Amino acid sequence: MKATVHFDTLYNAGEVDKRIFGGFAEHLGRCIYEGMYDPGNPLSDSNGFRIDVLDAIKKLRMPIMRYPGGNFVSSYDWKDGIGPRENRPAHPDFAWKSIEPNTFGTDEFMKWCELANTTPMMAINLGTKGAEEAAALLEYCNMPTGTYWADRRAENGHPQPYGVKVWCLGNEMDGPWQAGHVPAEEYARRADQAGKIMRGLDDTIELVACGSSGRGMATYLDYDRITLEYCWDLVSYVSAHRYSSNHRGDTAWFLAEGVEIDRVIEDYAGLFAYVRGLKKSDKQVYLSFDEWNVWYKNMEMDGKWTQAPHLLEEVYNLEDALVVAQYLNAFIRRADVVKVACFAQVVNVIALLLTRQDGILAQTTYYPVQLMAEHTNGKSLTPVVKCPTYAAGERSEIPVLDVSATLTEEGELAVFVVNRSQTESVSLEIAFQDAVVESVIGVETLSGSDPKAVNSWENPHNVIPAQGSAALTNGNAILEIPALGFTAFRGKISRK
Ligand code: AHR
Repeated sequence: MKATVHFDTLYNAGEVDKRIFGGFAEHLGRCIYEGMYDPGNPLSDSNGFRIDVLDAIKKLRMPIMRYPGGNFVSSYDWKDGIGPRENRPAHPDFAWKSIEPNTFGTDEFMKWCELANTTPMMAINLGTKGAEEAAALLEYCNMPTGTYWADRRAENGHPQPYGVKVWCLGNEMDGPWQAGHVPAEEYARRADQAGKIMRGLDDTIELVACGSSGRGMATYLDYDRITLEYCWDLVSYVSAHRYSSNHRGDTAWFLAEGVEIDRVIEDYAGLFAYVRGLKKSDKQVYLSFDEWNVWYKNMEMDGKWTQAPHLLEEVYNLEDALVVAQYLNAFIRRADVVKVACFAQVVNVIALLLTRQDGILAQTTYYPVQLMAEHTNGKSLTPVVKCPTYAAGERSEIPVLDVSATLTEEGELAVFVVNRSQTESVSLEIAFQDAVVESVIGVETLSGSDPKAVNSWENPHNVIPAQGSAALTNGNAILEIPALGFTAFRGKISRK
């Protein structure tokens, strides 16, 4: 098959916010305990942090990390997780029916972020708590010493404020499963009350209002609209979540996920424009896609009142990795709308990485995230793709290629391509209206013949990227994208 992607350097969606490569760590299963934090393990440092996990996360260049949940946060008391460990209480966790020992809390997370070269994105509990607790946490994290909670922080070893910039006003408050779930009208008031006090204490922070936890929710977009109309002046972002599923066992259909992801972003772009119009406002509100991934195989959510149970330990395959690449392609293409996104989650729980006592395993999904985080730089070029379509079941005829691209001022080009065809490779020509591709810097491809291929402890390098090549002809680049393939192309262009 042959295909072309056309670009014009003037036709772009603006600078890509690197925070779209964020992550998410929740007190859930073995994400924190045995994942990030494993004191006594020879692979851990003196803080108890797994060094192999830190190293693998650093390679992903995640600029922001959402914490501590997720559903967990909606019945969490952050005060249980500070101070001397021997005084910290263990509690049952409503969300995951587990025991939370609280030996890892806010200060440990801040230290972990520092070592992982990332920044914290804190979620507050708007389920069972409210404005007062949120204000206390903000004081603990961001205020100079001299007041009660800031002084507690200093006592706990950190006199300098942490300066947490981005704060989530609760989690998935639209979901009936959420502790303290309420209709949008009530959530909006809770969010407004908490957010006003928080920004009153520190007006440098940015707030994220809960939106919908999925497109399938009966209140999809309406929950978001009601909240946004009430909190418009206060918030910088609305949060969207999406988990993709191949529950039909239909790879062709599943690989068309990118089309749905585009739709969700488009829905929010429309919502933001609508409320801005309603308010006659000049302000821009953006999307924080702060939970996204594939998740449908391991639905074990009951921790049976144990500590660090094996929950949601999904094993990812090649087709999942191709869907993950499409999420990031969609975020890059809509750089004008999506400013923050958090891969859910980073370790052990629906994760990029799995740990055992003696090591770490990078899942298939790790590699597109790593390649795209490393090579996305500059503005998001708008791709005009000419390619064949394929039959994607109920999703009908879908383009075989899913493409995004970025370009720096210095002319460094990155083009990310997913070939959804399961049988045919695509010869792709990259052409510019106003520039020539003058050199190829690198080509890396993740592919295979079996969409269900996984990395395992026995065969950890079964699905990993391979180096490829591209030809230059008449100022264009030509490269071969294999069937079931994801390719990251890098080149240098010069303007005509
Ligand atoms: O990431 C797992 C869970 O999925 C989160 O706790 C929740 O926010 C979402 O429903």
